[in-house]
Amino acid sequence: MHPAPLPVIFDTDPGVDDAMALYFALAHPGIELLGITTTFGNVSVAQATVNALYLLEIAGQKIPVTQGVATPWVKTAEAPPAHIHGADGLGNLPQRAAVKQTPDPRASAQFIVDMARARPGEITLVAVGPLGNLSLALKLEPKLPELLREVIVMGGTILEPGNVSPVAEANVWNDPHAADAVFAAGWKLTLVGLDVTHRLILPTTLFRQIAQHHAHPATATLLHAVEFYAHFYSQRHPQVAQIQGCFGHDVLAFIYLVNPELFTLALGAVRVATDGLAQGQTIMNRNPSANYPQAGWEASRPLIQVCLQVQADAAKTVFEQTLMRPWLH
Ligand code: RIB
Ligand code: CA
Repeated sequence: MHPAPLPVIFDTDPGVDDAMALYFALAHPGIELLGITTTFGNVSVAQATVNALYLLEIAGQKIPVTQGVATPWVKTAEAPPAHIHGADGLGNLPQRAAVKQTPDPRASAQFIVDMARARPGEITLVAVGPLGNLSLALKLEPKLPELLREVIVMGGTILEPGNVSPVAEANVWNDPHAADAVFAAGWKLTLVGLDVTHRLILPTTLFRQIAQHHAHPATATLLHAVEFYAHFYSQRHPQVAQIQGCFGHDVLAFIYLVNPELFTLALGAVRVATDGLAQGQTIMNRNPSANYPQAGWEASRPLIQVCLQVQADAAKTVFEQTLMRPWLH
């Protein structure tokens, strides 16, 4: 008998790799998506909500979608990266089918709190955008760390260079104050950052094979979006250009959920630099026995798990086998 699927809330800024992650979650029999909470990031929050609803509609799925934070906590918002994900977040789709489902009227943070209170200790939150919704939910319900089973964040980097500055990863860069609050909240939290997501290169040919295997609007849309996204990554990273593909960033957060044995973890306190040249840097104390005198590194600070290595070929196989399953009708 299969174990019961894991109930998950997906906090996201779709976004091409967010779309890959969403379809992985819908296709995987071990995951039950309870809701999608949107945030600004790859696109405006309004567009993120439109995209979440659209991706669900064309995949024939009805799941609550709530709209979340539109701006960072403190820093000034930046223009979305249209050159990476397209102006619409999905590689500039030439046309879109009509969408019937409308958003749940609650704010994303309120939805997270309501669901966590209704199912205490059961829900995993997978967050793959800037962390404003989680930090707001913590303000609404300070006991949230006890009410959620686990939080998995695609964000940050420890040893790998950053992707928006020499040291900063995009999701953390977009709201460093929110990320610092989330990393300090004291829940079971795992960071799936660039240290591992830069190891998962997904070739465009794989998405073409998926679209041929399932001839369906959902896989055709994903292929279109990936072709746009892969063009950006192939120009910028020689190791991606060789394969003609893209990084699968957000997908790895879900692969960690279902196959944690593929990852090597380190445990430590993590802080985020909120301004200056290092803004957005995720700094990990990897020497817990050191007694650093600066404020911020007290022994009482919560420890979080950070993924430092991944068995990338095995992760790619998990992605491929999952998307090839009969999940579309
Ligand atoms: O740095 C990668 C992250 O930034 C991913 O979540 C991607 O979708 C973008 O938001
Ligand atoms: Ca994302």
